[in-house]
Amino acid sequence: MKFYIETVGCQMNVLDSELAAAELISAGWERLDSRKGADLIVFNTCSVREHAEEKIYSALGRLKTWKIEKPTGLIAVMGCMAQKDKGVVFQRAPFVDVVVGPGKISELASLVAAAAKTGTQQLAIGIDRFEHRTDPKAVKESFRLYDPIRLPQTRPRVFQAMVRIMFGCDKFCSYCVVPSVRGPEQSRSPKEILDEIRTLADQGCVEVTLLGQTVNSYRYREGDKTTRLAALLAAIDAVPGIRRVRFVSSYPTDMTDELLQAVRDLPSATPYLHVPAQHGANSVLERMRRRYTVEEYRDLVDRIYATIPGAAITSDFIVGFCGETEDEFQQTVELVRYARFKNSFIFKYSVRPGNEASRIYEDDVPETVKKRRNNELLAVQNEISAEWNRTFLGREVEILVEGPSKREARNVAQEESLYAENEQTLDATNESETPSNLLPVGDLLASAAPSGTVQLTGRTECDRIVVFNGAPELVGTFQRVRIVETAPFTLFGEL
Ligand code: 5AD
Ligand code: SF4
Repeated sequence: MKFYIETVGCQMNVLDSELAAAELISAGWERLDSRKGADLIVFNTCSVREHAEEKIYSALGRLKTWKIEKPTGLIAVMGCMAQKDKGVVFQRAPFVDVVVGPGKISELASLVAAAAKTGTQQLAIGIDRFEHRTDPKAVKESFRLYDPIRLPQTRPRVFQAMVRIMFGCDKFCSYCVVPSVRGPEQSRSPKEILDEIRTLADQGCVEVTLLGQTVNSYRYREGDKTTRLAALLAAIDAVPGIRRVRFVSSYPTDMTDELLQAVRDLPSATPYLHVPAQHGANSVLERMRRRYTVEEYRDLVDRIYATIPGAAITSDFIVGFCGETEDEFQQTVELVRYARFKNSFIFKYSVRPGNEASRIYEDDVPETVKKRRNNELLAVQNEISAEWNRTFLGREVEILVEGPSKREARNVAQEESLYAENEQTLDATNESETPSNLLPVGDLLASAAPSGTVQLTGRTECDRIVVFNGAPELVGTFQRVRIVETAPFTLFGEL
């Protein structure tokens, strides 16, 4: 029996898909890179904006004909939309067989087996933490951490890995759906994380990205000892073979001096910090229930640049949040100019039913205004990104070679996606956070020019993309490259 997983959304979802694939493979399933020939199609979904959900439902709608042609075929929906919509998924897409929330991935294989055996729809989701009289302990347990032994074959690239250190969120920003769909904040034990990273290193992994919704809020208590992210980074630094560690996403108020110093001092910790500001006006930050002022955020930016040489800061922004005036929006523009982000992901506010903002504020900024503000902020950010990149001209940087460039990947046949476009690349400002491609090195070798070189891409320690020509065998190695040309989102170099 063969399955295919389609993933949309953030890096947490990319990791969940990898773990879900491992779960299915362990249960005897075989993974396919395309829908063709699949007996099971798994959708890993996103709920953070309405647009993402609409696309998933229309993609599900298109699978109706597949289901008619192949009545034994199974469809599973996992991820944040599964948790948010619960049984509604079955109403809107009646031919879906399994709905499984982010806290129940460990049950995926058995739910699929039950659906196949009984022909009935299967549902497993976490307890709604906003429902009256819910027991907090039961809620937490219903969002179980799931990070099993890693199978190297389910990772897009064996030399890079994402490692979850936290699950859920307790910040409750008023616009956000995450605290309800990913459940209460839970940190994994340092021992479990380190065991996982040692296993990954043994499998050839050199670069680790630590994941958490608010990753720098990491806090693990054991007796009277509390481990925070700075100490965890130090322990990971000591694991042989791990050359680079980064962590996403950070919450501004949890960015302690101790953590910044750890990033500065630990050889493996990279100077790349994704610390979403979301807005530049105190009035809006308050309505968003962010727990800092813009002055505090600016202080943080100053501290980062003063502590970490070569730091690259990136941010997320929401434009057109409820009641946002032109003056408030301009304060966001000012913050972008002040902080000089390496890049920013900019999103138009999207109402998420059930959260605080949807209950108390009106989504009153017209779509045309949201769009204009999005473009205006993007233009300011792009100019700053271009200026940063120009400072690299003539410099030599060390990169980890990741694979063929996007241009190269387009030359080799690629799987057509069920989604017309991915939400992240659609709404995001510039380069996508998802891997540029997932081509196996074998395909790349086959596409090499007679000279034996192909256009490759790698990343600097500050997460800048470098495109250069080199032998396909360089994929997975560290190389020194001189930058000869720059563009807003890409550096071009020579070995
Ligand atoms: N509307 C628009 N953008 C949102 N984000 C989160 N919730 C919403 C929403 N309701 C953005 C935030 C967050 C990023 C992942 O998505 O900027 O950091
Ligand atoms: Fe959502 Fe705020 Fe938590 Fe980030 S910190 S996941 S924006 S609630």
